[in-house]
Amino acid sequence: MKILAIETSCDETAASVVEDGRRVRSSFIHSQVAEHEKYGGVVPEIASRRHTENIIPVVQGALREAGADLAEIDAIAVTAAPGLIGALLVGVNFAKGLAASAQKPLIPVHHIRGHVAANYLASPELEPPFLCLIVSGGHSHIVEVLDYTRYRIVGRTRDDAAGEAFDKAARALGFPYPGGIYLDSIAREGDPAAVKLPRPRVDGAPYDFSFSGLKTAVVNLLHNAAQKGEELPVKDVAASFQKAVVDMLSEKFLAAAEQYGYRRLAVAGGVSANSGLRARLQEECSRRGWELHIPPLSLCGDNAAMIGAQGYYEYLAGNLADMTLNGCASMPVDYTSENLSLYF
Ligand code: KG4
Ligand code: ZN
Repeated sequence: MKILAIETSCDETAASVVEDGRRVRSSFIHSQVAEHEKYGGVVPEIASRRHTENIIPVVQGALREAGADLAEIDAIAVTAAPGLIGALLVGVNFAKGLAASAQKPLIPVHHIRGHVAANYLASPELEPPFLCLIVSGGHSHIVEVLDYTRYRIVGRTRDDAAGEAFDKAARALGFPYPGGIYLDSIAREGDPAAVKLPRPRVDGAPYDFSFSGLKTAVVNLLHNAAQKGEELPVKDVAASFQKAVVDMLSEKFLAAAEQYGYRRLAVAGGVSANSGLRARLQEECSRRGWELHIPPLSLCGDNAAMIGAQGYYEYLAGNLADMTLNGCASMPVDYTSENLSLYF
């Protein structure tokens, strides 16, 4: 089954043709990073306008690269939640128009489930159940992926998401946008043991995260140094911050795997590109003899191939939309076929 997938939830306009949820026939991504850079973050209205301009060439590019015309496509999948609402609506409306005119089934896909499905593209043998650490700009979750479309949340962040924490710390340190990846590269040159930073815990919730205190600790360090006229060792602060985030993510994730009896683990979302997190989890899992799946860097960030992969399994589960489909700015990842209509 060939699915044409569309992703416009944030600042990437992307389209892809994916076969049977596992084989990428094409993947086109138009990134707007250069444009948002001057504002230090994504400007939602600009993102929507650029999606509107780029969506047709990007979809045409994906079809052309796959050597497919629309007649050969069996269904249209689109990210319908969560994300910037104006950005989502561009993709959703475009997908609806295409599905209506070409008379194809329309599959709404949850963006975060798409990130998890990037692992199905990278690891053809991977099947649920597994435990997944989801770390993106808006999410930090530990979830049991019980089946392709059945999730159970084990832990979540109480405040900032991991990517958000990276971006805020990077901004405080004066790094350019996009901050997370920049902080990662600077951290490689610093000493992770040089600066003492807290590892906040959430009372009574061993698998929940809290990152805002860590960000505040970095901001306080900077203020204190400025007041004393001292210069902070920025590389060491970056390395120590990254180590603190990696410690918190990996310790809770591994403890949850132990507690719930998982030996097959996966990581998903933009922060899965982080070099410190990848190295730590690879080392810890290989020492325990556990199976670990992390997408290649090309599939860690936003793309439409992952939406095509998850779209296939949503299709098999009957999770389809009609022509009343709307975008949804926020939506839990553990929705079911039974309550899907509350959101889409
Ligand atoms: O999954 P994603 O591309 O978009 C969302 O769905 O949110 O994740 C973007 C987040 C941003 O916060 C970005 O700074 C972070 O992932 N990120 C990283 C790295 N690459 C991207 N954070 C730390 N280290 C990286 N190498
Ligand atoms: Zn994403």
